[in-house]
Amino acid sequence: MNELSDIARRYATASPEPSAQDILRSLNESVPPPLDQETYEFLGNEDIPYERYTSQAFFDLEMERMWTKVWQWACREDHIPEPGDYVVYDIGRYSIVVMRNEAGGIKAFYNSCLHRGTKLCPSHTQGSKPDFTCIYHGWQWNLDGTLKNIPSAWDFTHVDPEAYKLPEVRAETWGGFVFINMDDDAPPLLEYLGILTKDFANWNMKDRYVTVHIQKELPCNWKLAAEAFMENYHTRVTHPQLLSGTSEPSTQYDIRDKHVDRFLSLSGIQSPHLGRTLTEQEKVDNMLMGDRSLVDNPVMVPEGGNARRTMSNFLRDQFENALDVATGHLSDSEILDTIEYTLFPNMFLFPGLSMPMVYRFRPIGTSPDKSLFDLLFLRPVPRSGNRPESAQPVRIPIEQSYTTVPGMDAFMGHVYDQDTWNLGMQQEGLTTSRKPGQTLATYQEVRIRHLNQTLDSYVRGEAV
Ligand code: FES
Ligand SMILES: [Fe+2]
Repeated sequence: MNELSDIARRYATASPEPSAQDILRSLNESVPPPLDQETYEFLGNEDIPYERYTSQAFFDLEMERMWTKVWQWACREDHIPEPGDYVVYDIGRYSIVVMRNEAGGIKAFYNSCLHRGTKLCPSHTQGSKPDFTCIYHGWQWNLDGTLKNIPSAWDFTHVDPEAYKLPEVRAETWGGFVFINMDDDAPPLLEYLGILTKDFANWNMKDRYVTVHIQKELPCNWKLAAEAFMENYHTRVTHPQLLSGTSEPSTQYDIRDKHVDRFLSLSGIQSPHLGRTLTEQEKVDNMLMGDRSLVDNPVMVPEGGNARRTMSNFLRDQFENALDVATGHLSDSEILDTIEYTLFPNMFLFPGLSMPMVYRFRPIGTSPDKSLFDLLFLRPVPRSGNRPESAQPVRIPIEQSYTTVPGMDAFMGHVYDQDTWNLGMQQEGLTTSRKPGQTLATYQEVRIRHLNQTLDSYVRGEAV
């Protein structure tokens, strides 16, 4: 355990419930670094003004000073395996084509024709093409961005092909993700990721593939959407069905780095707010609700055993034998628990094996009260080395349940439906509020404050 400042320790230990580390110790479970570290920081208690979620002026500032300066993941490398494969990544009013070129490298270009500006690929699309051909007058570029052809070239003798290469956006990769950055002066991706690369040293994100990818437009600011997934405080009221398998006041919150924070939420531990005490067998039965597809036979807790160890053994067996995935190098926590990292501004990464999600929240268009939520599940590639194809995104309207998407677990889908309903209500509530800002919990909502403080440093134009 690291040394916390006195004030950080006071808030980090204020919960009347045992901490996640206390629980792990009481169960004699050892967790490897970085999960054994507690790095909460006290970041203040001031309200966060609602204006930053509703005003056009603040939205425009974010666009100009933050979104155009930060690394953000655009797609997975396995979305564009072959030359000519592309994904269009849209962020606010910006649109960027990420492309695999003939040499096997990855490049990104501003999605705009150099003749009269038409988008070269429709927004939010992906596919494969031999070159870029503009739909309007047919100007063409090669996959490496060099100019290929201008119809009626005799009328464009003033166009120098060298100067008419497609302008590039920086693109770099980590963990199988392709990141882009519109700022030519930004630090390299690995520097921006900071402690994340170290924390993920034993978590192989590269050899994973997308089993489900859902996109939903949410009726709220991108930060409200992201913030809804940064704390476990809302679980007691919004997701009461989860209280039999998680103890929300024991969730651990950590600030890891300028761009990185996380929470650790243990599974197989009941909430004190459930209202009754479960047996270890009942906890196992409840945990299996989320993974019903895996269950052929009842999973029994042995004499003197506990729910976490029983579930971990069961899941290890499933991963090893049914999915051909190695688990021997992982602790029970990495098999079972919800380990959620955030990379500023909008990437959520879950390295754990049974909760392997990735989230992304981003503004769409130029409106402060609309955002797009990407929800992906990333499973490890089988040991045999045969990489299954990554799933294509399925975009669903706001009123459509997550549970209706093929491959989506119904139990999990219902949880995301519950969060969605809150978000529209919250955005609407901000504009009618007499009180000018949101009041955050000092400990449990510290990641929301961290997000806003890091955002502020960009908006103020401070160096990264
Ligand atoms: S606008 Fe693209 S070819 Fe004319
Ligand atoms: Fe939630």
